[in-house]
Amino acid sequence: MAKHPSTIAAPSRPDALANGVLEGMRKHPRQVSPVWFYDELGSFLFDNICELPEYYLTRTELQIMRQHAADMAHHIGTDAALIEFGSGTSTKTRELLNHLEKAAAYVPVDISRDHLLEAASAIARDYPTLRVIPICADFTRNFDLPVSVNAAQRRVVYFPGSTLGNFDQAQARELLQRMRQIIGRSGAVLIGIDLKKDPRVLERAYNDRAGVTAEFNVNALRHMNRELGTDFDLDAFEHLAVWVEDQSRIEMHLVSKRDQVVHVGDEDVKIEKGEHLTTEFCHKYTLESFADLAATAGLSVSRVWMDPARLFSVQLLEPRVLSG
Ligand code: AVI
Repeated sequence: MAKHPSTIAAPSRPDALANGVLEGMRKHPRQVSPVWFYDELGSFLFDNICELPEYYLTRTELQIMRQHAADMAHHIGTDAALIEFGSGTSTKTRELLNHLEKAAAYVPVDISRDHLLEAASAIARDYPTLRVIPICADFTRNFDLPVSVNAAQRRVVYFPGSTLGNFDQAQARELLQRMRQIIGRSGAVLIGIDLKKDPRVLERAYNDRAGVTAEFNVNALRHMNRELGTDFDLDAFEHLAVWVEDQSRIEMHLVSKRDQVVHVGDEDVKIEKGEHLTTEFCHKYTLESFADLAATAGLSVSRVWMDPARLFSVQLLEPRVLSG
């Protein structure tokens, strides 16, 4: 079962949380952080999204893994420590583990302790000879790896799910740079990247007929109401997901159906009818635009695996060798 991507960690103190929400509410357009998607219901809804007929991403990435995991493992080589950013999608990881030769360790990194331990113990049970070293951390920040992992022949960061697409360019570059640091000079990054395609296919993926994505989007408001005592009227917002060509991204918005006042902390936030709150960006790359981004982080694409329709890609990145 897919788990929520824990790439985006909510700060834990309630006042810090309310301040963060207020900050977003003062922006133009107003912003709600995607961290608010993922409470228990949100994680359940995300699992459902992954199964939707319109949401091709999860299914297609898994198909690529099933078909090419042996080749990927061949390129990763023997004695590699596999470090997974966000330990949710264990189905894809297992495809890889099934083919990796003498893996030195499997190191899932996740902010959510429960999900992390659950995933780690399932892998440890099913791969009894594999050393599993779970690390509870927010991988968008610096975290330490155990000495034994740092000593492995080759460190390979695995980041499936196209979650990189939810970061803006600067954040994505920073995250890739962090991976580059972790892998050193002889490691690699294996990453799932969703590809730019017919906008109708993209918009359908984020506007499913069953309305699950709409419910997932509105759930961010429900979550804030519960955690922060805000009073967003869930019926007064409409889900919108649009392709924005010049940013090469799907944008998820919540559009206010009427003039309304929402109380956030001590502040009255006046939201007009038709006003948009942005909740999530899902960037889509071409092979070229992703290679350019990777290059800015000191990584070059050494291998790309795709499905026959070229909807999705899994890419192997290696440290750039500077010439001259
Ligand atoms: C987690 N992430 C890769 C999903 C995406 O497609 O960008 C989140 C999502 N939002 C709506 N549907 C799925």
